[in-house]
Amino acid sequence: MKTIGVYTSGGDAPGMNAAVRAVVRTAIYHGLKVKGIKRGYEGMIHNEIINLDRQSVANIIQRGGTFLKTARSADFMTPAGRKRAYNNLKKHDIDALVCIGGNGSYAGAKVLNEEFGIPCIGLPGTIDNDLYGTDYTIGYDTAINTALDSIDRIRDTAHSHERVFIVEVMGRDSGFIALDVAIAGGAEGALIPEDQADWDKVLKHFNRPGKRKKSFSIIIVAEGDEQGGALVLEKKLTELYPDLKIRSTILGHVQRGGSPSARDRILASRLGSEAVKALLDGKTSVTVGIVSDKVNYTPFELAINGKKSVDPELIELAEILAI
Ligand code: F6P
Repeated sequence: MKTIGVYTSGGDAPGMNAAVRAVVRTAIYHGLKVKGIKRGYEGMIHNEIINLDRQSVANIIQRGGTFLKTARSADFMTPAGRKRAYNNLKKHDIDALVCIGGNGSYAGAKVLNEEFGIPCIGLPGTIDNDLYGTDYTIGYDTAINTALDSIDRIRDTAHSHERVFIVEVMGRDSGFIALDVAIAGGAEGALIPEDQADWDKVLKHFNRPGKRKKSFSIIIVAEGDEQGGALVLEKKLTELYPDLKIRSTILGHVQRGGSPSARDRILASRLGSEAVKALLDGKTSVTVGIVSDKVNYTPFELAINGKKSVDPELIELAEILAI
């Protein structure tokens, strides 16, 4: 192995730049060359591949987004698209890959390895934290802190106007963001895809006899919750409780941007460096994560299909602290 290709794919996440930097610097430290593939699998197909040296990744550790850019590629789903991608890798003498992204990105790396034998390592990059094989994903810590900052601001208005605010946070299939910010933001309810009883708990919150009268409430909902998003819930609650003053806020993509937190920069730096070491050790088709503060390798198959669950104790904690 002489040249590693690195790319970011799927939704951007704060800390991706720090991860690329760590891949580049660790590879150079070990005498390898590094190429950056722009716009993920799209750039692989369209030959958007650049040389990276230690200086190319200077002054990016603090930047959000991904300087390599990212995309979702329909062409890569076809055998012809993948063949073009592989031919471009060969043209650039790339003989191993580090892929930073989520499940879909891992699936792309898996199929490249199966069809062409090129060693691939996956790194978990998504704000959702829903990837199997790591306690935390790159971008999650920044995203929850960004969401929390907004929730604290909303709380000021909720309190001043004695309103109920329903705040929708990201999390297409999972409630990691919603549950953590509900606990950290002192919310009265968290609606997450993993908890089927959550709507009843919210109703109980407004119905409970003898409950101390609260003049305002914050309810957090994950965008993927089966009850619907913030606007749907606002309508439902208004119909049930016409006397309440209810407003909803969708935080949206503000949660994806911004300078990565210290935790995300450190996680990304560790994982980027470990990815190169894994390739040097002859590993392939695994993701690198951190579990209980130790480096953890997970085969692509398991990383893609394994389900990471929210901690039921945290669901209970959110409920207890909302009384
Ligand atoms: O997977 C990260 C994520 O931000 C999800 O939380 C969200 O549902 C999705 O990406 C949004 O994707 P897009 O930016 O393509 O609309």
